[in-house]
This record gives sequence, structure tokens and C-alpha cells, in this order.
Amino acid sequence: MRNQLPYLDFLSQELQLPPIDATAPLVIDLFAGCGGLALGFEAAGFRTIGYEKLADACTTYQHNLHGFCYQTTLARQPDLVDGADVIIGGPPCQPFSVGGHQRGLKDSRDGFPIFLDAVKSYRPQLALFENVRGMLFRNKTYFEEIVSALRELNYIVEWEILNAADYGVPQRRERLFCVAHRGGWKWHPKTHHNLPYTVGEALGELALIVPLNAKFLTPSMDEYIKKYEKASKCVRPRDLHLDAPSRTVTCRNLSAPTGDMLRIRLPDGRRRRLTVREGARLQSFPDWFEFKGNEESQCNQIGNAVPPILAKVLACSVKAYLHKQCSGSQGLIIHTNVGTESLLSHRSRMSLT
Ligand SMILES: C[S@@+](CC[C@H](N)C(=O)[O-])C[C@H]1O[C@@H](n2cnc3c(N)ncnc32)[C@H](O)[C@@H]1O
Repeated sequence: MRNQLPYLDFLSQELQLPPIDATAPLVIDLFAGCGGLALGFEAAGFRTIGYEKLADACTTYQHNLHGFCYQTTLARQPDLVDGADVIIGGPPCQPFSVGGHQRGLKDSRDGFPIFLDAVKSYRPQLALFENVRGMLFRNKTYFEEIVSALRELNYIVEWEILNAADYGVPQRRERLFCVAHRGGWKWHPKTHHNLPYTVGEALGELALIVPLNAKFLTPSMDEYIKKYEKASKCVRPRDLHLDAPSRTVTCRNLSAPTGDMLRIRLPDGRRRRLTVREGARLQSFPDWFEFKGNEESQCNQIGNAVPPILAKVLACSVKAYLHKQCSGSQGLIIHTNVGTESLLSHRSRMSLT
């Protein structure tokens, strides 16, 4: 049995923006990028205001969303609009080298101190951030500091690694989501765990055609990839498989000709790189969402984003937490596979010490 709704219809249904409602709860989106996370929140009926340092990403946000995006480089003690019910964001986290300085929350290059300052000053009803899953492992001590700081502000803190494919995104993408709340938070049940959308469903006929300005792999790239796959003991060739969700879409594997770049094998055997629109589809951006800036900038915006379909699932949980109904959909429960599955995973309950 396949998903009842064709993928593009699913995106249209779930990510339609409701009319502007000046009384809707307000979400402040820090480090907002192009607004992938914010799109999910607006589709669920929130108002959003973004803060982002890159002009292209800000322009994309404003072009597609109702909310305003301030182009600014956030710093400690940020001066934000008042009245946010919710603060969300994807703070950049400097990768820690094992031997290097680990200055934790004192590291000024890092986004988390800024995010925590904002929560401390504006005291939203709920704060939510996203980061790479490795934060729970390689940067565990740092993550513990962040959780402690939020607990000191009297929030209950829960986190979960979510796989976007479990929620209707045609991509296996695992990311850490952490929520600071005042009690009563529930993670949304998985909606597509047994029936994920596939690359084939997401790309449709695009996967079979040669687009204008198609970028084919050159013989030297083919050779490079062969070596890469051999060295990484890759059993299944890493071309996109139309019958399954894709690998994680990143800035790097979309925009740069690397060994792990995303590519399609055409029916005639030639392999080509993904287009911006194909990358956007795999990230669950609807086709009406236009990216601004040059190709590299657009790829970065897409690779950095929270898939909007997953963002909407989270936004629906936030809305339920705020005791409001989620607008525009059936709360995304299309194929409920939860059964007796616990809403709280072992990870969010596991001890931090
Ligand atoms: C992981 S991306 C966020 C993606 C976004 N949540 C989405 O779903 O589209 C992080 C963003 O933070 C921005 N950024 C990094 N440091 C910043 C700062 N100090 N002030 C404002 N934006 C910053 C980057 O330009 C990047 O767009």
C-alpha cells in the first residue's frame, strides 16, 4: 500500500499558509536561514519573525513567508521584538576539536549563548532548537551545559533525535530537537514510519529528464566516486535510489562535486547532479517556495534548513502545548503507526550524567 496522497499534493495540503492573523501566537526564529523551520510554524498558524545574518536567506524568507526577517548578525544579549510566545532556532555550533579549546557557553563564536540569552530575557512559554545529532555524542558536555542553563531558567527540557523520513519527508535525515517547556509537552507521533515517501515520488518525472544546464558527472568525477565508495566500503552505490528516501541532503552534497554528492542515474546510464528544485523537493519545500541568491547560496539555504514538513509536525505539537488547535490539516496523521509506541523516547529520558 502506498501513501494515499501524491507527494506534491501532500506538500500543498500541509504547507499552505493560512491568511495573516494578527492575534496568532508569535514565534521568534533565531538563525532563521531561509525559513524552513518558520514555514512549518506559519503553516500551523503561527506568526513568525526571523533574525538571520545572510542577505540571500533573509530575502528568501521574506519572499515566501508572511513574517518579517531582520538581516542582522546576532550577538550576546540580542535586542528582539517583545511578546514572543515561542523562541525557535538553529544556532550554529562550532565543531569542537578534541585537542582544541572547549570554551563551552563562553565561546563567542557560538550561537547557543545568544539563543540562551534570548530565552533568559524574553522568557517564552516554550523554546525549541535544532542541531546535528552529533551534539548528543561528540559535544555531550556542551549539550549538558545548555540543558542545565535552561533548567536554571525553570524549564523542563526534553530532547529527541528525529528522522525526517518518519514524518513524510523523502529523506533519511536525523537531527536533534530539544524543547524547553513548562510542562505538558508531547512529541508528535510518527506519521510515515512504515510508509515513507521515496525519492521517486518526490522527484516524479524530474528524475527521468535532462534539465536545462544539467551538470553531468565527468569521467574523472566517476573515477573519484568509485574510489570514494571503495574506500568507504560502500556496498550499495550511492546514486539516489528512486524506491527509497534519500540520504541526508546537506549544503556540501548538493552544491559541491564531492564523492558523496547527490546524483541521479538517468535511464540512459548517464549520471547528473541534482538541481536546486530537486534538492528542495527532497527537503519538503513546496514548488511555490522560491530561493534567492546564486546557485551555491540556494543550495546552502536548502541544505541548512529544517525540512518544513517536519517543522510543521513540531509546530503542531507546540500548538497543542499552547492549548490551541492546529490549523489547516488533520495534524498530519495520515498513516499512524504509533500503536503503543511511547511518545517519549529513551533518549529524552536518559540521564545526562
Ligand atoms: C542551520 S541554519 C538555520 C536554518 C533554519 N532553521 C531553517 O530551517 O531554514 C543557521 C543559520 O544561522 C545563520 N547565522 C549564523 N550565525 C549567525 C549570527 N550570529 N546571527 C544571525 N544569523 C546567523 C547562518 O547564516 C545560517 O543561515
